[in-house]
Amino acid sequence: MAKSIYLFLALTLLDFAPLCFSHNSYGGYLYPQFYDRSCPRAQEIVRSVVAKSVAKEARMAASLVRLHFHDCFVKGCDASILLDSTGSLVSEKRSNPNRNSARGFEVIDEIKSALEKECPQTVSCADIMALAARDSTVLVGGPSWVVPLGRRDSKGASLSGSNNNIPAPNNTFQTILTKFKLQGLDIVDLVALSGSHTIGNSRCASFRQRLYNQSGNSQPDFTLDQSYAAQLRARCPRSGGDQNLFFLDFVSPTKFDNSYFKNLLSFKGLLSSDQVLVTKNQASLELVKMYAESNELFFEQFAKSMVKMGNISPLTGSRGEIRKNCRRINA
Ligand code: HEM
Repeated sequence: MAKSIYLFLALTLLDFAPLCFSHNSYGGYLYPQFYDRSCPRAQEIVRSVVAKSVAKEARMAASLVRLHFHDCFVKGCDASILLDSTGSLVSEKRSNPNRNSARGFEVIDEIKSALEKECPQTVSCADIMALAARDSTVLVGGPSWVVPLGRRDSKGASLSGSNNNIPAPNNTFQTILTKFKLQGLDIVDLVALSGSHTIGNSRCASFRQRLYNQSGNSQPDFTLDQSYAAQLRARCPRSGGDQNLFFLDFVSPTKFDNSYFKNLLSFKGLLSSDQVLVTKNQASLELVKMYAESNELFFEQFAKSMVKMGNISPLTGSRGEIRKNCRRINA
């Protein structure tokens, strides 16, 4: 009898699982209450360290959102991006998308050490990144969402995965969309998540090609507003100044809003990968128009797409581990 009640409860729970939990292909579930018993103050601790860091430097919000993205696109959201190189492991920090570019590692370290004091070996580095991305978004004026939790940390990294899976700013629209589809994300996710370029910076090296030689014929990219291009050339010369920084959204660089989409419609997207959303595909153009029109629709979809991205093949159950230090696997 007891057994059948148990079975009934289990089945009922499974029935509702799609509503409250996020499913992944290994049958492990992420759910928002994962640390409610084991580390009840976890979310509060993450939020306070992120708030302090963003107060010190607004750009950190952008850097933490991007870190979660660059983690999830390589072997899933498993904190592989945080591992430093060792004798036997090559860090993803050395990849083209991350080198001289990915940042925020010290903030993650600070969160992790606060959490290790509160509840040793309980909260994964992968979950810390998912929470930090949400908290960062909220702190700079963006939408909030409930973060499904229970990810575990990888015991390895993939330099080639980092180089190949993360779209490059000069990739074609089709290549970028394909790279999203390979992660189970669609064109709606692509456009909404690109909206995170409403905050943060880019180096000159990431868009120089557009200013001088977009397609190998020594001509600039004509889908870039020519007076905006002239301003950019002043601090992004033909050679040198690779690390010079530019706002991805020059209108409101530290505010999370839909001005990124408005910029795209006036041909003032900074990266080629931004501008192609309006110049190369009708469906993505319609989505850009919609988000430029309605901040509310953008926020709603952004939150959904961040949860979807955060669900990319997490390690659950007994797979992976809970690292003590996010930079290295446990001894
Ligand atoms: C669609 C394909 C994407 C491409 C090609 C792309 C490319 C880039 C590039 C080249 C930069 C500047 C890096 C530098 O020069 O150092 C950048 C910055 C950034 N990206 Fe993306 N990105 C894409 C999608 C995303 C997504 C999906 C997210 C988040 C969900 C994101 C979040 C950010 C943020 C917040 C920054 C600013 C980071 C900072 O200031 O530290 N990007 N991206």
